[in-house]
Amino acid sequence: MIFAENDTDDVASFPIPNVELNNGLKMPIIGLGTSEFHLQNGPTNTAELSKVRGAVEMAIDVGYRNIDTAFYYGNEGEIGEALKKKISEGVVKREYLFINIQLWNTFHRPEHVLQGLKKSLKNLQLDFVDCFLVHMPVGFKFTDEDTKYPADKDGKVLFDAVDHVEMWREMEKAVDLGLAKSIGLSNFNQKQIQHVLDSCRIKPAVLQIETHAYLMQNKLFAFCKANQIVVVAYAPLGSKGRGQVEGTPILHDDPVVEDIATRLDITSAQVLLRYLVERGRCVIPKSTFKPHLQNNLEIFSFALSEDDLGRLDQLDRNVRYFPFEQLRGSPEYPF
Ligand SMILES: NC(=O)c1ccc[n+]([C@@H]2O[C@H](COP(=O)([O-])OP(=O)(O)OC[C@H]3O[C@@H](n4cnc5c(N)ncnc54)[C@H](OP(=O)(O)O)[C@@H]3O)[C@@H](O)[C@H]2O)c1
Repeated sequence: MIFAENDTDDVASFPIPNVELNNGLKMPIIGLGTSEFHLQNGPTNTAELSKVRGAVEMAIDVGYRNIDTAFYYGNEGEIGEALKKKISEGVVKREYLFINIQLWNTFHRPEHVLQGLKKSLKNLQLDFVDCFLVHMPVGFKFTDEDTKYPADKDGKVLFDAVDHVEMWREMEKAVDLGLAKSIGLSNFNQKQIQHVLDSCRIKPAVLQIETHAYLMQNKLFAFCKANQIVVVAYAPLGSKGRGQVEGTPILHDDPVVEDIATRLDITSAQVLLRYLVERGRCVIPKSTFKPHLQNNLEIFSFALSEDDLGRLDQLDRNVRYFPFEQLRGSPEYPF
């Protein structure tokens, strides 16, 4: 990973290294994840929403400058409120924040891409975002702005195959219009990324994928590196506490991870995050708990030995906590 000089404001308790994207923009290599459980089409749980708002405020207070959200999470409004509060309190300036949002599957048609982006901007009370990602390669039929899972009478999701290149042209327009500084992809496989690369005017700057010690995706990572695409690891802690597949092992509690943590007197979360950073990934761990938020930032004051890195490499075992089973019927299903 290319570490760029850190020139973020000194309000943060300690500086976080940046990575330089292929458009020259700098992105803090650790950011805050914000996704929560919620109903597919219904209202998001209000208690969870206020927790997310509090988490963003605490995160900014302790030094986070990179925040990840998505239209799908239904929390852009609360995140926007938290950002507005911290900016108006003078804790941070907008130019020092790096905000990521994601285009939901119902907005893939060219006529809906900028509509989706503008809706998110309005929710967040922002004029632009730092990175605008396509959430998934699978498109859904657009019915109205608020229906996230359009379904037929049997409850089966209605897919809508849109050529990714046509969608990407509108993503590029978002950059031209100054509404997004960078654009990227999430959950795309190598073939799908190559299809975009073959015809794009602006290359994806970022690929956000599930990657952690149990799912390193080294081939996809090498492909991204060769194409100057920065890989951002979602579920970097193995989405602790909410593995979607029953019976899958819990990464956070892996004996090798615990052993290294105990010996170095650090936490398992720190081992997992530092490992990903050592292996060239940016990380967006989610937490709504201040001690965890702080703990996750403090991964730059220790190093993992070659021996420990080698032991962690051995854990790679193709465990995917987010297989998105409900998307399997689509020809664009990526896994
Ligand atoms: N693009 C996509 O399709 C996609 C899919 C999934 C996720 N994401 C993004 O990636 C982010 C991260 O993924 P994730 O939320 O699924 O999982 P994660 O970050 O791997 O794990 C989050 C869990 O770990 C716990 N945790 C955090 N720090 C900890 C620490 N220091 N010690 C112990 N436990 C700790 C959190 O609980 P506490 O709150 O109690 O700390 C939470 O239960 C998401 O929030 C979202 O922004 C993107």
